[in-house]
Amino acid sequence: MTSRNDFPPGFVWGAATAAYQVEGSVTADGRGPSIWDTYAHTPGRIADGSTGDVADDHYRLFAEDIRLLAGLGLNAYRFSIAWPRIVPEGTGPTNPAGLAFYRRLAETCLEHGVTPYATLYHWDLPQPLEDAGGWMVRDTAERFRDYTAVTHDALSDVIKHWMTLNEPWCSALNGYGDGALAPGRCEGANALKAVHHLLLGHGMALEAIRSSEGSYGIALNLAPVHAASGSPADREAARRVDGLQNRLFLEPLLFGKYPADVLEDTGMAAWFAQHEDDLPLISAPLDFMGVNYYFPTTVTAPEGPFSDPSKPSTQPGSENVTAIDTGLPRTHMGWPIQATGLRDILVTINSLAPDLPLYITENGAAFPDAPTADGTVEDDGRQRYLKQHIEVVRQIVAEGLPLKGYFVWSLLDNFEWAWGFSRRFGIVYVDYATQTRTVKNSGRWLQRFLTSDAPFD
Ligand code: NOJ
Repeated sequence: MTSRNDFPPGFVWGAATAAYQVEGSVTADGRGPSIWDTYAHTPGRIADGSTGDVADDHYRLFAEDIRLLAGLGLNAYRFSIAWPRIVPEGTGPTNPAGLAFYRRLAETCLEHGVTPYATLYHWDLPQPLEDAGGWMVRDTAERFRDYTAVTHDALSDVIKHWMTLNEPWCSALNGYGDGALAPGRCEGANALKAVHHLLLGHGMALEAIRSSEGSYGIALNLAPVHAASGSPADREAARRVDGLQNRLFLEPLLFGKYPADVLEDTGMAAWFAQHEDDLPLISAPLDFMGVNYYFPTTVTAPEGPFSDPSKPSTQPGSENVTAIDTGLPRTHMGWPIQATGLRDILVTINSLAPDLPLYITENGAAFPDAPTADGTVEDDGRQRYLKQHIEVVRQIVAEGLPLKGYFVWSLLDNFEWAWGFSRRFGIVYVDYATQTRTVKNSGRWLQRFLTSDAPFD
């Protein structure tokens, strides 16, 4: 039976959020517009027509939220820094009020014994940079380096743990591939240029900020990809999807090379050949890798060709591949639940980079929660999800993998991007009309686990 004592004393237990999803106050104190302001305000883009204008009002309620987090027994807070608060135009003057906000936030964490983990880019590109080409152009990587350098200079005394990018796969392939996330462009296989510029931005940023005082990494959304059968066609489908989802990021970051098969599948080999000189920067050593794990995928080959460049897609070179239903239970997102996938993906990374410290920087589930008459939120599905995944975390640590911490997504219900407020991931329920916070039963369960020696109930 798992209890907190099964984890090493220094193991990090945190919760995560991201600026645009929780902060609100989008015009306060000199913040500039981001691609998410534009996207969310474009009719038809967000499922429930909502925006992040107010969200959880975390910009004003952060101290209460951090107190809540600490009260649950968590000892780390992963938040993101909004580039448009720090450099409102994306380039040019720095906004001292933006830096001051994140200093207050980090200091409040420290006052509560909570270690701040900051993500420098969680999808909120300043709109003027998108107007100049966004992540499709190299210049954006340089601007990211500049923003990162001023932010780190100003805050490295209070923030020691830094992540450059969150889920560059989404930024590139949803942002510029199928348009499902901001800025909503459909550029086909050219979206791989955005992958390269994001990774280049990561490398340039690391070079600018890395110091022996801090610890520096990146958070990737990685997932095990299985073939639906042993047939050569299904295995080929799995190779293609695994290539785009996992290897396209792991190989340049860890080994300084892009997977040749992916560049070939997507017809991008010639373009990437012109940018090989960037790879040493992209593969500069990391202090840790963050993994956001939600679900595994099982894929089957199409009847016809794999590729259909006319389709807007997150899967250039494998547009016609489909994920099959393997009969697993699903969350409100429709994502299958399989906790062992967490181990599979960490074992894969560890086999590629045996000494690299790892964190689960996100893990969690959406369910359609609602408070009962007595005000409790009975989210058994989430509680079960967290329990199953934390049990796997225990096994991974017991096996000796260098896993240093686990962050639940999310502390609070929040603006779930294109789903708006229609999907709730929090261990704390947010009543958006009143901004009241209510710890859900899953949060209470986590609190019992973290603050007592008792085994899981
Ligand atoms: C990953 C993203 O980093 C986060 O912003 C999002 O809300 C969760 N996944 C859930 O979809």
